Amino acid sequence: MRLWFAALFAAVSLCYASEGVSEAKLKNVFKDDFHIGAAVNRSQIYGRDPKAGVLLAEQFSSITPENVMKWSSIHPKPDEYNFEPADKYASIGEENSMFVAGHTLIWHNQTPDWVFENADGSEVSRKELLKRMREHIFKVAGRYKGRVHGWDVVNEAIEDVGSLRNTKWREIIGDDYIAKAFEYAHQAAPDAELYYNDYNMYRSEKRKAAAELAEKLQSRGLRIDGIGIQGHWGLSHPSAAEIQKSIDAFSSLGLKVMITELDLTVLPSAWEHRGADISQNYELRKEINPFPDGLPANMQSKLSNRYQQLFALFTRNSGKISRVTFWGVHDGCSWRNNWPVSGRTDYPLLFNRNCEPKPAFNAVVKAGRK
Ligand code: G3I
Repeated sequence: MRLWFAALFAAVSLCYASEGVSEAKLKNVFKDDFHIGAAVNRSQIYGRDPKAGVLLAEQFSSITPENVMKWSSIHPKPDEYNFEPADKYASIGEENSMFVAGHTLIWHNQTPDWVFENADGSEVSRKELLKRMREHIFKVAGRYKGRVHGWDVVNEAIEDVGSLRNTKWREIIGDDYIAKAFEYAHQAAPDAELYYNDYNMYRSEKRKAAAELAEKLQSRGLRIDGIGIQGHWGLSHPSAAEIQKSIDAFSSLGLKVMITELDLTVLPSAWEHRGADISQNYELRKEINPFPDGLPANMQSKLSNRYQQLFALFTRNSGKISRVTFWGVHDGCSWRNNWPVSGRTDYPLLFNRNCEPKPAFNAVVKAGRK
């Protein structure tokens, strides 16, 4: 009898241990490595993409708001805050015991013009803009104190060549607008982690500038907890070696490293056709939107190999990386379909338009199980 129980127990354990790849849950696979997150959009927050909602709860241990916490969405007019979508977003994170990220407090994009203008349209003073920045940060980061666990305090403030981006924030306040944002964010939400987040961090000039920015903040006694490396990458670019250099450069400053905004485009570059209407141009459409009806097997396998390479890199660096967040839940909701040309069909994520796992999902799971 005892032998029978032992055999049954062994069989059940084996069954659990060898949970099929397709039934695997990313948040379980990587639970000892880092949080696995996804950006959620407004319709997902409002339950209008129910399959994505199921995936979020089952697969991910962290969420980031794709747009609803950006200035233009949460604070569209001087005396008008629109907290409802962001409140719902935070609740989704709490209901699922997730690490809830906040994106983003200060950015040059998706910030309304009024922020930088007086009532008569003239430019505000440094003093007035600092006041507005402080109020916004206190209202937003303050409201989600204890609910948002980490904020992208400043987003994309560095140019690819390593200089500070010329934004209205910088023009009016000066270079210390970044330090001020971190100072206010710490005061408003002392328990939240504070991050700098940017793209093209694999470029040596940008990597160096981001590291120097963080060091400058640290030397002024300001708190910065981590750096987000946006992963808007392609099938072969950037190289694993360049990404590794950025992970090392940031973690050597004592900072957490996050791979944020991960998505891998499989489409040809379309920068030169930015803004083009491809619906009317058959030849151009064929050239820059080659997979409108599905991704061929050879491309699925290229995407899988690249994801496997990247997740092998991430898990090797799990002591330095605290979170890996995909920029979207499934291919159908990715911003990649509409940038730099709208109306393309891209396949950058792990779940297809029907929210089913792609071969790339299996590759990521395999990389996680080593
Ligand atoms: O809010 C309006 C809505 O009222 C209108 O009906 C609709 C019609 O097109 O547009 C809506 O705004 C769009 C918004 O997404 C919400 O869907 C904007 O036009 C569109 O430009 C905006 O794009 C977002 C983009 O940031 C803005 O720069 C993308 O969804 C979002 O994925 C993207 O995310 C950024 C990160 O925040 C920072 N890093 C780069 C990343 C990709 O660009």
